[in-house]
Amino acid sequence: MISYLSRIHINFFLIRTSILNRRLSTIDINDEDYSLSTIMTDNVQVKEGKANIHLPEGAVFYNPAQVFNRDLSVACLRLVSKYHHENECKKIKKNDPNATCIPFDQLSAGVRQENGLKIAEALSATGLRSIRYAREIPGIDTIYANDIDAGAVESIKQNIDSNDVKHLVQASHDDAMNLLYSHRKVDGQFHVVDLDPYGTPAQFLDGAVQCIKKNGVLCITATDMASLCGNNPHSCYSKYGSIPLHQPFCHEFALRMILYTLHMQAARYDRIIEPLLCMSIDFYVRLFVRIGYGSAKAQSQLGEIATVYNCVYCSSFFFQPYGQASLDERGNAKFKYAHGPPVGTNCSHCASNLRVGGPIWLGPLFDHSFVNELITSIEQAPEDSYAYRDRMLSMLYVVKEELPDPLYFDNGKLARVMHTHIPQNKLIKSALLNAGYRVSTSHARQDSIKTNAPHHIVWDIMRAFAEQSSTKRATTERLNTDSSYYHLLTKPSTIQVDFTEHPDWESEARKNKLIRFMGNPHARWGPLGKAVTKKKRSNDDNDSIPNKKQTKSDEDSSTEENL
Ligand SMILES: C[S@@+](CC[C@H](N)C(=O)[O-])C[C@H]1O[C@@H](n2cnc3c(N)ncnc32)[C@H](O)[C@@H]1O
Ligand SMILES: [Zn+2]
Repeated sequence: MISYLSRIHINFFLIRTSILNRRLSTIDINDEDYSLSTIMTDNVQVKEGKANIHLPEGAVFYNPAQVFNRDLSVACLRLVSKYHHENECKKIKKNDPNATCIPFDQLSAGVRQENGLKIAEALSATGLRSIRYAREIPGIDTIYANDIDAGAVESIKQNIDSNDVKHLVQASHDDAMNLLYSHRKVDGQFHVVDLDPYGTPAQFLDGAVQCIKKNGVLCITATDMASLCGNNPHSCYSKYGSIPLHQPFCHEFALRMILYTLHMQAARYDRIIEPLLCMSIDFYVRLFVRIGYGSAKAQSQLGEIATVYNCVYCSSFFFQPYGQASLDERGNAKFKYAHGPPVGTNCSHCASNLRVGGPIWLGPLFDHSFVNELITSIEQAPEDSYAYRDRMLSMLYVVKEELPDPLYFDNGKLARVMHTHIPQNKLIKSALLNAGYRVSTSHARQDSIKTNAPHHIVWDIMRAFAEQSSTKRATTERLNTDSSYYHLLTKPSTIQVDFTEHPDWESEARKNKLIRFMGNPHARWGPLGKAVTKKKRSNDDNDSIPNKKQTKSDEDSSTEENL
């Protein structure tokens, strides 16, 4: 049923050892009935990318749903390694113009490169990710595969041996905090720090920004989407210092809250954040962020931070930046107070109440030259390099066309607000283009509409759509004149809406019939809990899939539609 999964070269060999017999069976990840609990509790051999890892019974964490994450990370770090190698070559040639430097594409993965990338995988579990980096990325000097759990470290050591990467990967048994804080001195710092924890990475960010070299790259996974998407605002605030908004744009909002937190952590050490690629994927977010140095630049990033006012009825959003910051001609930070508020006490479109969310990062989520090079590098790699090659390319093509304007509307929500049927993407996007604005989809949501048009234009278009829509349209005479819907319907339009199909409404990715959004390939696809033994699991089976059941307080605060 899921054709792209047939590309996955993961073979699970279930080895059950008992005193009397040994039995080998294969688990097929394509099979709807394969059991994640078996993967997590039995002796299993997993082949992923160029790594073969052994999972001892129930002791160590492995989640097959994160293959995409690891594929994407290998692809991104390959590019980071290329940039690093080219910089090193420049330095060598500066010192000695006659010196020769081997081009990056002639380096071999699996061979140690003196002065190559130093990577810390702070929460490594089986060592799989580090081993993949070692075997698939050329130009590596050293990788620390660290875990706090003694069983995990045993497994890391065993997997390092069996994958023949002793010369590249070093097992480390420590709290990630200790590892990061003990590498703050310049000569001990890393070019890449990878944080892939259970749930939130928040507590590791302070250490990570300090132990990263100038222009090094921080890779972050967060799977605590329930709190990031607004089910638990107080828990999100305690981790990220930011209040989430439970709206269709919540996945992009999650990325922007994490970037705000990272900016705060970095700025206090005079470091700046430069997002290379920040994506919402399945049930988690993954961010690749370059960390630059410089106090004035760090201060000027204040201009990218804003609080968000969000209408409880029509979901319009209004940004209140914290200041205007820039660099003067001598490179010093200049500050001007921002003016506000950006909206009155009620929504300027429908007169409803406004909620306060954020702060968030308003700056870019992607570096488009990095994304373009990444696409080229994946396309040029041998076809079998990545299990998720096609899906990565499809998502990256959407990212490539995504507008930088923060947040988005969603067709379904627009329709619910206006009591109409769901408008075709083609119609709304054409109307926006015909009015002279830009449009795109967000990679984070299929039915999203990103635009640089002011929101009143969006509502002008939706009013015109409601006028011509026969379904559920209430006549204004029957409406309560105090209602938000009445306000929205009766506002005079500022433009003559033109729904004629515009040639640019369709993205290049859609025109090329790339599958841009995919459903979950497995019913239990999602973040997994800690590895547990079979005995413990049988007592406590459902707990391995967090976020399935909401807590009482989650339900209480989840006031809107299921996102
Ligand atoms: C989600 S798993 C990591 C998965 C792995 N990165 C991968 O790609 O397969 C999280 C790991 O973090 C480890 N861990 C949890 N807290 C830690 C800490 N404070 N320091 C180091 N490791 C920690 C756990 O033992 C677990 O193995
Ligand atoms: Zn409103």
